[in-house]
Amino acid sequence: MVEPVEPGMDVEAPVLVTGGTGTLGRAVVRGLLARGRAVRVLSRRPRPVGGREPYQWATGDLATGEGADAAVTGAGVIVHCATTLGRGDVAATRNLAEAAHRGGSRPHLVYISIVGVDRVPLPYYRAKLAAERVVVESGLPWSILRATQFHDLIARITDAQRLSPVALALAGVCFQPVAAQEVAERLAALATGEPAGRVPDMGGPRVRDHAELTRATLGARGRHRPVLPLRLPGAVFRGYRAGGHLAPDRAVGRITYEEYLAGTVR
Ligand SMILES: NC(=O)c1ccc[n+]([C@@H]2O[C@H](COP(=O)([O-])OP(=O)(O)OC[C@H]3O[C@@H](n4cnc5c(N)ncnc54)[C@H](OP(=O)(O)O)[C@@H]3O)[C@@H](O)[C@H]2O)c1
Repeated sequence: MVEPVEPGMDVEAPVLVTGGTGTLGRAVVRGLLARGRAVRVLSRRPRPVGGREPYQWATGDLATGEGADAAVTGAGVIVHCATTLGRGDVAATRNLAEAAHRGGSRPHLVYISIVGVDRVPLPYYRAKLAAERVVVESGLPWSILRATQFHDLIARITDAQRLSPVALALAGVCFQPVAAQEVAERLAALATGEPAGRVPDMGGPRVRDHAELTRATLGARGRHRPVLPLRLPGAVFRGYRAGGHLAPDRAVGRITYEEYLAGTVR
């Protein structure tokens, strides 16, 4: 269901942002509004009571496809940020692309993926790779950006262990965290440009050892405890240790992890 248009709200060929309520999607919405674009957010939930943000709201579930037809109606561009955090991303992306086809307006489909989805055999990454293929083969004009891990994901790994007397880190694994807002800026720029296909990857400013990032998180939170590097077996962690998820030659993000931490309190 797409909510009715408020008087004065510009909804001409809106940019549909799936996952517009998530970490990245919220920042994409801000970036698009700052560029003067009409925006429609797709969420499984109705708009929060009292919410009066200057964009349209569509309720739907990409896992089932329910509400997708209405959500894509008239959209000139779709920025697909929604994720089920698993295998469901393939069906969700297919449901979205099929709805876009039925809508007949051939919107530009912009998809956010992850650096190394073709190198680290994590089931979620395999799903993202398959979802990329759905986008490429959709017959719609498309752009795909792969980014490294967002700052908040790295912080959450440590925050999730707040009750533990030690903080575990992945031994031999580095991350190159990037600010979600910088990735969102890039997506907003892609969404307002011509379809670009697979664009250069986007990584954070520095590749850093996970133990070092964990210490930085603990320090910023004022929690003092030992960091225990843990070497995990299996192909997934071998892939991480080999740096398959890093893009050192695409260290284009500027906001450092410490700058991110300084702006968050938990
Ligand atoms: N986090 C990272 O480090 C990272 C790095 C690179 C790329 N990415 C990619 O960036 C994207 C956004 O990540 P994020 O961390 O911002 O995600 P997030 O905060 O977990 O948000 C997920 C979003 O997906 C929506 N969603 C979930 N299931 C849905 C469904 N069945 N139908 C419709 N919407 C659904 C949620 O909306 P509602 O709950 O409102 O329905 C929510 O807005 C993902 O594609 C992810 O793979 C993430």
